Amino acid sequence: MTSLSANALVESFTKAGQGQVFRFADTLGEDGLSSLLAAAAEIDLDELASLCESLLPQKSVTQGGPSINLDGLQPAPYIPLPEEGGDAALWDKARKAGEDALRAGRVAAFVVAGGQGTRLGYEGPKGCYPATPVRQASLFQVFAEKIRAASARYGKSIPWLIMTSSLNDAATRKFFEDNSFFGLPREDVIFFMQGRMPAVDARGKILLDAPDSIAMSPNGHGGSLRAVVTSGAAQKLRTRGVDMISYWQVDNPLVQIIDPAFIGFHVLNASEMSSKMIPKAYPLEKVGHFCLLDGKNTVVEYSDLPNVMQEQLDEQGQIRFRAGSVAIHIFDLAFVERLGGTGSGRLPFHLAHKKIAYVDEAGTLVKPERPNGFKFEMFVFDALPFAERPVIIEGKREDEFSPIKNAEGVDSPASCRRDQIRQWVRWAKAAGIVLPVNEDGITSFDWEVSPLFADSEAAFVQKWNSLEPKPQIAEGTLLV
Ligand code: UTP
Repeated sequence: MTSLSANALVESFTKAGQGQVFRFADTLGEDGLSSLLAAAAEIDLDELASLCESLLPQKSVTQGGPSINLDGLQPAPYIPLPEEGGDAALWDKARKAGEDALRAGRVAAFVVAGGQGTRLGYEGPKGCYPATPVRQASLFQVFAEKIRAASARYGKSIPWLIMTSSLNDAATRKFFEDNSFFGLPREDVIFFMQGRMPAVDARGKILLDAPDSIAMSPNGHGGSLRAVVTSGAAQKLRTRGVDMISYWQVDNPLVQIIDPAFIGFHVLNASEMSSKMIPKAYPLEKVGHFCLLDGKNTVVEYSDLPNVMQEQLDEQGQIRFRAGSVAIHIFDLAFVERLGGTGSGRLPFHLAHKKIAYVDEAGTLVKPERPNGFKFEMFVFDALPFAERPVIIEGKREDEFSPIKNAEGVDSPASCRRDQIRQWVRWAKAAGIVLPVNEDGITSFDWEVSPLFADSEAAFVQKWNSLEPKPQIAEGTLLV
């Protein structure tokens, strides 16, 4: 950066009432100053000013009250699974349409992996976390093998977008290099970083976390739609003939990354954004809810839906707002380009009230004990109301969703390990294998099925039937 543009940048911050960002500029060496200027150049001061203006005084955000008007709220309609009363012929038709789209190379995979993973407390990118029972294969390896299996089945390579953030980009890329891209063609893996937003205090002043460093953090998983476009990844997909993106979160190894029926429903409905719902396990389960608000599909977070509504039952005695969102979507590429570009319909930002370490006027680092500032984040499901012809289909929890969020307890490595084994036990049973299982449906020993051996019950049965001699399943068995 030339000193002229540096001066202009400092001046624009001063004019915007954010001159404190350069408070220590005179004391910094060349490197410190240039990294401070580079971070400052990422900030859209007009956008920040209007966010502070519209969001900061909204006390309901910090007090946990509902931030949206829920008048007329209804459950969103969804397509039930055949075993839950859905139309089996329609699911078959969708599956075939999805398989055609895959054979035509129209689908890319997309994992968002830019989060901080603070609850898990794992050093390093969450995708590197060892998730499987026998091999301790990382989440990234599980996904890579699912993509390899699907590519082989449909005879087309499936490009894989991986969104990182400045916190983990270098470590993520190195992990793939060190592991030879888990057998994927290197040109099929497209990394890009999501954007960042500065943290501010209650008056909207940008905080520094060191004299030469602005307190910046990733702009939320909703930042993925912008980043797909601004990184050039969307353009790369276009040139490969891709027109839809299968989206999931890095913490869920059970996810069916490439689900032909889901893709088919998206195609048959010419949907701009399709979603999978999982029926809530119990009324107050902490997931978002697919709802219909003002005629638009919308996800309402559990914190915004009063408990009485979460506990309502419908005429069949089922939870009325049962459609839980598990962050599994298919996006039409043109829709992403429309939302992620500079056009209208950009995603809103939400405020998160957090403890943010900052340097005070004397240059001393303060680590607050209570939330002292705000971060701005976008949520991917906020794209839903903008989508034309959105589709929601039902998924089976046991085949779709077991995230690793917490170090212990619910949604932890231990619960996920059990859910993986439980799924393989079900597949084995379908193949006629008799395994000793306890009342939870799990074996007392660890074993594992790689997605390269089978990535679904049908694939497992077919593969198992073709094996001669059949292997013994026991402690440490790895089917690969
Ligand atoms: P979470 O909401 O679970 O957040 O992200 P997290 O940062 O991973 O974990 P905690 O809350 O600090 O414990 C859900 C998904 O969205 C991605 C995460 O990587 C994960 O796949 N994500 C989240 C991003 O890619 N970028 C973000 O800015 C936030």
